[in-house]
Amino acid sequence: MNILFLNGPNLNLLGQRQPEIYGRTTLAEIEATVRLRAAKLGAEIDFRQSNLEGEMVEWVQQAQGKFDALVLNAAAYTHTSIALRDAIAAVGIPTIEIHLSNVHSREEFRHRSLIAAVCRGQICGFGPFSYILGLEAAVNTNGKL
Ligand code: DQA
Repeated sequence: MNILFLNGPNLNLLGQRQPEIYGRTTLAEIEATVRLRAAKLGAEIDFRQSNLEGEMVEWVQQAQGKFDALVLNAAAYTHTSIALRDAIAAVGIPTIEIHLSNVHSREEFRHRSLIAAVCRGQICGFGPFSYILGLEAAVNTNGKL
């Protein structure tokens, strides 16, 4: 199984960015943990980050035919990007929405996700472990469990 992890704007700053909210773990450390777990589950993963909405849209489009599932932390684009939502809907690849923080316990503008309706489900609030939960959900998109 091939799973694409996509990370949106400012997630390259994890580790130093608002550690009281996002913790001290860097994105590279999260990636390493995800890779270990993916190897145990027999899944191939690709792990990317971009600060550019258009680049993320292109990656979602290009995933068609190459990846079986997407795990997406769209960061701030979660709350703003109709383009990303349309891309997810267009490719039809099962997508898991993830967030480190519990977006529902934060500012009101974070309560609304423009991508949630086109995703299989949403995982938020578990810090870096949200990525592992997202991986598990992605591996199980065939509904075997
Ligand atoms: C985030 C939550 C978003 O609201 C925020 O814009 C982010 C990170 C998270 O992982 O908790 O950049 O997606």
